[in-house]
Amino acid sequence: MIPLTLAQIARITGGQLTGPPEALVTGEVVIDSRRVGPGGLFAALAGERSDGHDFAAAAVAAGAVAVLATRPVPAPSVLVPDVPAALAALAAFVVDALPALRIVGITGSSGKTSTKDLAAQLAERLGPTVAPAGSYNNELGHPLTVLRVDAATQNLVLELSARGAGHIAYLCGIAPPRYGAVLNVGHAHEGEFGGLDQIARAKGELVEALPADGAAILNADDPHVLAMASRTAARVVTFSTGTPLLSHIPQPTLLAADIRLDDLGRPSFTLLAPEGSAPVTLRLHGAHNVPNALAAAALARELGLGLADIADGLSAAVARSRWRMEVHRRADGVTVINDAYNANPESVRAALEALGHLAQGGRAFAVLGHMAELGGTSPARHAEAGEFAARALGPVLAGLIAVGPEAAPLLDGARRVPSWPGEALGVPDGPAALAVLADRLKPGDVVLVKASREVRLEGVAADLLLEADR
Ligand SMILES: Nc1ncnc2c1ncn2[C@@H]1O[C@H](COP(=O)(O)OP(=O)(O)OP(=O)(O)O)[C@@H](O)[C@H]1O
Ligand SMILES: [Mg+2]
Repeated sequence: MIPLTLAQIARITGGQLTGPPEALVTGEVVIDSRRVGPGGLFAALAGERSDGHDFAAAAVAAGAVAVLATRPVPAPSVLVPDVPAALAALAAFVVDALPALRIVGITGSSGKTSTKDLAAQLAERLGPTVAPAGSYNNELGHPLTVLRVDAATQNLVLELSARGAGHIAYLCGIAPPRYGAVLNVGHAHEGEFGGLDQIARAKGELVEALPADGAAILNADDPHVLAMASRTAARVVTFSTGTPLLSHIPQPTLLAADIRLDDLGRPSFTLLAPEGSAPVTLRLHGAHNVPNALAAAALARELGLGLADIADGLSAAVARSRWRMEVHRRADGVTVINDAYNANPESVRAALEALGHLAQGGRAFAVLGHMAELGGTSPARHAEAGEFAARALGPVLAGLIAVGPEAAPLLDGARRVPSWPGEALGVPDGPAALAVLADRLKPGDVVLVKASREVRLEGVAADLLLEADR
């Protein structure tokens, strides 16, 4: 963070200062008292299980200069009515103080974190870059990320999430992006939004926030995203994987041609831009990472990275965030795909396609927990996903294992495909899924583990990997 005195912090947040006005905050702003470092600011939040205010004294003992709090604490503090709003005010102040900072925003229903991690690795080739860890993308994580910038930071790469109208506009107000990429409009959080049109309205708030001298990077293969071109003052840059869904008029700016997947599902392609072409081989798994890579490439291109460096950087980039399409091959020849970070209808499809590819000529098992936050359409969406699995993978899919009652409609969907010869099995929890697999897995099989975050199936993937050692 740029150094700020407690007096400045109180003024910026409209808070009440208890403590030395000249004391200088030079370190990170954190919400976990165990992560406080010297010169930092501890923001106290009242959570479900614990209340940050109880750790105020410990935070200061660990080096925090003061505590941002909503009620009196036994430590130097700035008292505010709303801590996330105070963090937003501080973040906006810091951005204002650094006019040379180049801000990039990424949104979409799926792939924000994957794309953010790619774009950050490209931007780092140009200069000091700040990007969130994992999915710090909401009204709390976003300002905390922005507050990590300092005078040396050149690029700020942000992931913007929305659970409703106005959320992305709010985040853009804190740190106005000059470059913004919209990846896709899918069914994630359909329950809160109501439908795809509302989701498109909300995601498009990013391009509405861009200035005329900025660039809106849009996925030309997604009609809801391409239509956002009319909602921005910025120059429009499009990208496409050449899916023959749309006749691309005008021609997309960036294209991926000759897409191929290796036996572990890692894509190679030729990156085509108006200025030339360059070969890319991703270290990430799954064809769905090709549009993510194109979006990251387009953002890096706007920041000034040349095509050869972009291709080189994409080929060197690693997965920085856990449990997204991690592919592990066990000593006994069973392959485990841990995609347990989260799930929505589109990411389940993407993962099933990758599973089908990895299992070519062998047997696939899909262990799927439910997709959360779909509202009333949940049973139908699960049935569609189950039907897709049985249809797209056909006889390769030896078993579909639905974990928990909310995932059970997956099985009904798969049974709608009479020609599918696989087993449809419902189990109550992760250990039961492991027991079912233990009886069935043979060398050469491929297992996908995927569900919404709250189902926490990453433990199943971890246990599957340990089992080979037993
Ligand atoms: N372009 C894409 N299309 C479909 N699925 C994708 C795409 N990119 C990533 N995924 C899958 O979606 C899941 C989440 O990926 P990622 O964390 O990158 O997305 P996110 O948009 O940041 O999600 P969240 O909203 O949870 O922050 C993973 O299972 C990943 O494999
Ligand atoms: Mg994310």
